[in-house]
Amino acid sequence: MTLAAVLDVEKILILDFGSQYTQLIARRLRELEVYCEILPYKATKAQILAAKPAGIILSGGPASVHEKGSPRPDKFVYEAGVPVLGICYGMQLLVELHGGKVVPSKKREYGRADLEIVAESPLFADLPRHLQVWMSHGDSAERLHNGFRVDARTGSAPYAAISDEGKRQYGIQFHPEVVHTPLGSKVLENFARRICRFEKRFSMAGLLETQIAAIKAQVGADGKVVCALSGGVDSTVAATLISKAIGSRLYCIYVDTGLGRHGDRERAEKVLGQELKLNLKVVDASKLFLGRLKGVSDPERKRKIIGKSFIEVFDKEAKRIKGVTFLAQGTLYPDVIESVSVHGPSVVIKSHHNVGGLPKKMKLSLVEPLRMLFKDEVRLLGKELGISSDLLGLHPFPGPGLAIRVLGAVTPGLLNTLRDADLVMRQELKAAGWYDKVWQAFVVILPSVRSVGVMGDGRTYENTVVVRSVDSRDGMTADWSRLPYDLLHKISSRIVSEVKGVNRVAYDISSKPPATIEWE
Ligand code: XMP
Repeated sequence: MTLAAVLDVEKILILDFGSQYTQLIARRLRELEVYCEILPYKATKAQILAAKPAGIILSGGPASVHEKGSPRPDKFVYEAGVPVLGICYGMQLLVELHGGKVVPSKKREYGRADLEIVAESPLFADLPRHLQVWMSHGDSAERLHNGFRVDARTGSAPYAAISDEGKRQYGIQFHPEVVHTPLGSKVLENFARRICRFEKRFSMAGLLETQIAAIKAQVGADGKVVCALSGGVDSTVAATLISKAIGSRLYCIYVDTGLGRHGDRERAEKVLGQELKLNLKVVDASKLFLGRLKGVSDPERKRKIIGKSFIEVFDKEAKRIKGVTFLAQGTLYPDVIESVSVHGPSVVIKSHHNVGGLPKKMKLSLVEPLRMLFKDEVRLLGKELGISSDLLGLHPFPGPGLAIRVLGAVTPGLLNTLRDADLVMRQELKAAGWYDKVWQAFVVILPSVRSVGVMGDGRTYENTVVVRSVDSRDGMTADWSRLPYDLLHKISSRIVSEVKGVNRVAYDISSKPPATIEWE
């Protein structure tokens, strides 16, 4: 069941034609407290009807309407009796559908443009006559037909916005969802609030109430739920929410793999167990994990061993709880959209990022209270639940933990060195006020690299560690953080003087792509 069905809320439906910006449209609308959901462009009439949309947005996409087999929505989209907004490729679909003409542009238009509004349209209400907008398209409309008129133009696109108010259909060639269209949110707001007359406000406080009711209804009066807590943001918010609904019938299991950082387990015990009062069991399985990882240096093998061992330990613990039939997971909306997107299963998110196989093997029904939320919304919900901003601000930490930050076979000694260096780095980032400014920062150790150094009167021949800090919105693309030299200096000199076995510190200045965030 979708969240909207549970909440019985109105929504704007976004049909995804494969634009890299589709999720941004949804995020912008939700920032405006307009609830929306994304479906693949192929959504059937039944699916569209079931979604009960107040309006439909056709996203952009990489295809050209001229290409054979380029994506088309079900005709019902235009017959559903609700307003339609086509963005970029979505606008070209509208033009073509109504007998207008779309032609390949001589030159692909990409970048900022000045949009001049030339007609009164509710889409541009309360906006200045000139707007800065972001364009990214190859095809352009050349002729309109069937009642459509031009509402705005740019220097190179005479049909930059079009509409047929009678049909309540609107098309824009630019992208209102990106930051390079500074007033773009207002365009989306006008569509939702003025044109679709969408009145409800989607808020985290409202969501909290209804989600608690939905969990109670799903789990029943005596159902039991088991949850693997990692101590990170998503599983903590999911578990706290579920425990608000069913109290101690939620059983949380924290598996200590021995691959965590300094303080990870202690924080889980203190924050999750004592402060949030979750029904928590900590299982120390570090010997098992480290034993199985002995001598393994291939990263994919490490991940497989860790994934399999995790399931084994978790399964064993879960079986001790009598009568458990539900499994809680912190699945987020981007994972849900990825799995239905036009591109098929995502090429960007690695499959091993999720604890795959857990539910199937265990024959448990899933409770996924975050599956319609974006990461920033999970943080807002966490705040609403009273979770501390320290926890909500934690950087992402990979499931396989430090094992993928030791570039080679994992040993207790190397893990300790890495932990010490990582702690120094975190302390310094926090002290300088940088921890909350970056998406993720960590240390990698290169055991096969030994380099020479001098310490006192002697020469050393020791390990190199790499500090990595990146700025990102979602982990899919990233750039290295421009940390101040003084901060890097402090991190480096403290690591070399305080962490045994390290005589050299490097800073990773690669962006993703082509590099990835983690080294393995
Ligand atoms: P990459 O290295 O793919 O990382 O650029 C993107 C984000 O995913 C995290 N990551 C992982 N998370 N298991 C996880 O649970 C993994 O094996 C894994 N590898 C990378 C990474 O920390 C970053 O946030």
